[in-house]
Amino acid sequence: MAKITASVFTSHVPAIGAAMDLGKTQEDYWKPLFTGYEYSKQWMKDNKPDVIILVFNDHATAFSLDMIPTFAIGTAAEYTPADEGFGPRPVPKVMGHPDLASHIAHSVIQQDFDLTIVNKMDVDHGLTVPLSLMCGEKDPVKDSWPCPVIPFAVNVVQYPVPSGQRCFNLGKAIRKAVESFDEDLNVHIWGTGGMSHQLQGARAGLINREWDNAWLDQMIADPVACAATPHIDYVREAGSEGIELVMWLIARGAMSDVSYDATDLEAARAHSVRVAHRFYHVPASNTAVGHLILENN
Ligand code: DHB
Ligand code: FE
Repeated sequence: MAKITASVFTSHVPAIGAAMDLGKTQEDYWKPLFTGYEYSKQWMKDNKPDVIILVFNDHATAFSLDMIPTFAIGTAAEYTPADEGFGPRPVPKVMGHPDLASHIAHSVIQQDFDLTIVNKMDVDHGLTVPLSLMCGEKDPVKDSWPCPVIPFAVNVVQYPVPSGQRCFNLGKAIRKAVESFDEDLNVHIWGTGGMSHQLQGARAGLINREWDNAWLDQMIADPVACAATPHIDYVREAGSEGIELVMWLIARGAMSDVSYDATDLEAARAHSVRVAHRFYHVPASNTAVGHLILENN
């Protein structure tokens, strides 16, 4: 049986990818950000998954106003890093896992979630920046990512976007799907995007540390309550692009979701998830970077 053992949550700011590609990670501006991912890169080596389900959003790269799937699963054998205007990032192509992806599509659609099936897609910074942060610099030709990746795209760009509640429920359906796959696979699920940021309009540059950290506390300890956060709260408190955070609830929904008193660490250890790593940094470009690694108990 395949099993989801851990989840990773991280922002996906495109300038982070550019800083890595241009060799700027040790500059004063970037160093504190990359230091926060040192633990994570080692953790990835120590806890290498067989497959990553990577929940991300496409930023009008593979999709456009021509076609806007709310949820889309990549069933292809491989995906090319997209050209977002400055040429494709110099990173390895992303190998898929068509067998597990088509099994998830089948199971999740039968559980009443409508997924778009994607057999050809270029992947933008929403997917490649989290991989770079967690796996470090990679030569586009000589290296490869540590394991196959199933891209799972969510529309958080063009309204209407799905609620946190629906994303959380979808995560549960994905867990059920994975657990009904015959092969013994160690699966990780990643939720990406966020945290607070707004890229345009009168409130451009908005950052809300207090709200971000309270949301993280609740997402870890009481995901059921967190899932009920209304859409307007994300936009008001975390900025228009803060809505990317609903994608984190897909990954959280796929994990153990027993709620507990955040001050009762024994209960947390016994029943729910273990926080292997937590990091928060402001700013990276216009964004508050949040990062978590959760392991299932
Ligand atoms: C930035 C952040 C994003 O999530 C994104 O998709 C594009 C830009 C930024 O902070 O620059
Ligand atoms: Fe984004």
